[in-house]
Amino acid sequence: MMDFGAQYAQLIARRVREANVYSEIVPHTMTTADIVARRPKAVILSGGPQSVYADGAPQVDAALFDAGIPVLGICYGCQAMAQALGGEVARTGRSEFGRTAVTVDNGGRLLAGIASLQAWMSHGDAVTHAPRGFTTLAHSEGSPVAAFENVERGLAGIQWHPEVMHSEHGQTVLKHFLYDIAGCDPTWTAAGVVDEQVAAIRATVGSGRVLCALSGGVDSAVAAALLQRAIGPQLTCVFVDHGLLRAGEADQVKHDFVAATGVDLVVRDEQDRFLTALDGVAEPEQKRKIIGREFIRVFEDAARAIAGDKGVDFLAQGTLYPDVVESGGGDGAATIKSHHNVGGLPDDLRFRLIEPLRTLFKDEVRAVGTELGLPDQIVWRQPFPGPGLAIRIIGAVTKQRLDLLRAADAIVRAEMTAAGLDRGIWQFPVVLLADVRSVGVQGDGRTYGHPVVLRPVTSDDAMTADWARLPYDVLERVSTRITNECREINRVVLDVTSKPPATIEWE
Ligand code: XMP
Repeated sequence: MMDFGAQYAQLIARRVREANVYSEIVPHTMTTADIVARRPKAVILSGGPQSVYADGAPQVDAALFDAGIPVLGICYGCQAMAQALGGEVARTGRSEFGRTAVTVDNGGRLLAGIASLQAWMSHGDAVTHAPRGFTTLAHSEGSPVAAFENVERGLAGIQWHPEVMHSEHGQTVLKHFLYDIAGCDPTWTAAGVVDEQVAAIRATVGSGRVLCALSGGVDSAVAAALLQRAIGPQLTCVFVDHGLLRAGEADQVKHDFVAATGVDLVVRDEQDRFLTALDGVAEPEQKRKIIGREFIRVFEDAARAIAGDKGVDFLAQGTLYPDVVESGGGDGAATIKSHHNVGGLPDDLRFRLIEPLRTLFKDEVRAVGTELGLPDQIVWRQPFPGPGLAIRIIGAVTKQRLDLLRAADAIVRAEMTAAGLDRGIWQFPVVLLADVRSVGVQGDGRTYGHPVVLRPVTSDDAMTADWARLPYDVLERVSTRITNECREINRVVLDVTSKPPATIEWE
């Protein structure tokens, strides 16, 4: 996937993978020679924000279309392709943004079996004449040539965005290109990823020793499980139990994860240490800094103990593909000073970094976790912040407040699971307003307790989020159970703010 600055670049790559074809994102500046050298089965040119007529607008090298590699142009990619092949792109004076009716005139291979569709468009210019030798497949009011193809050459273009969920038949159209025009086989599966990664890890690590910090989250758990499968006896995992996890989570790491994978796990029970360090601290940034500092100290200590007798060559991290793309790509495995990544390990502990998930999206990481036999409670765990419940207690963190929040949070989780709503929700923080009190009446008496805030959100990547529209009866059950079962909580409120303007977490 050549990225021309598309808002949806990652989405296109994900959709291709959902069609069981592996895809990678490369910048549009990559030369045709470099592309050919990577031997792709096909190339997709993404959309982009510019007009093909704008000064300095990225062009497509026409030589790409003679390289014998099938190419699909989407939106800007379609226009740039038409232009490079001698077709005509004009300013029609009509822009199309959002849902647009497309009429299929001749389905060809790309649109086979589709008569018309509602498609998501976002363009000013339009292709007015398809290049010579190409068949025009469809049109819309503002796009005389909304799709075209030349099957012999393996080339096709579409003006709309098949990757967004608002475009009907989007995945069908992508599959037609991938399977029927480009001849790709749908062979990329979670099982295939496991085999491939296991081989790659063995090749990289050799007989070296690997250290992996487990956070209790999905990514580090799956990374560790992959490493275990690949080089089991050479792996040691470290889990720092800081006492800020949700009910049952530390036990899942200590028992269920170990039972499912057989990893050699070093557990450091440091709850008192973190509580002491956090004593009386209410300011969020201060909390984060203290937790980060203490975590590094404990991890460093554990790492030294392990490195002491056996030596450690690699530090494993659960970096995902979106982080790699957003930080500008790169081929990884650079020798770095570990403190760039773990934030302050001592200079005399030097590691190479190993990131077995760096080609995967979050949903793929989950599929790989399931493939490796990890329990659903770990694989489907919501993203959870490193500082844990400490940043969901508004006010100072104490053992008693942690226990109270853990109890309320456990009720929320149980009710969500019972209602079958877990997987539709990205994250569901429960926030204890420990420095706020409100008056209530329970039994026959006045109470003066604390509110908790429910913060269920939907999201794809946590960059933006919306508040989840939960059924009232589920909210009612949650509210009743929390106020009945958690003494000191006499009020339950719902956060109905999107991100932006609010963040997902309260601190
Ligand atoms: P916000 O609150 O900024 O959170 O909308 C975005 C996502 O990041 C998580 N988050 C953190 N994760 N360390 C982490 O590892 C942190 O300090 C941290 N703060 C927020 C949050 O849960 C959400 O998924």
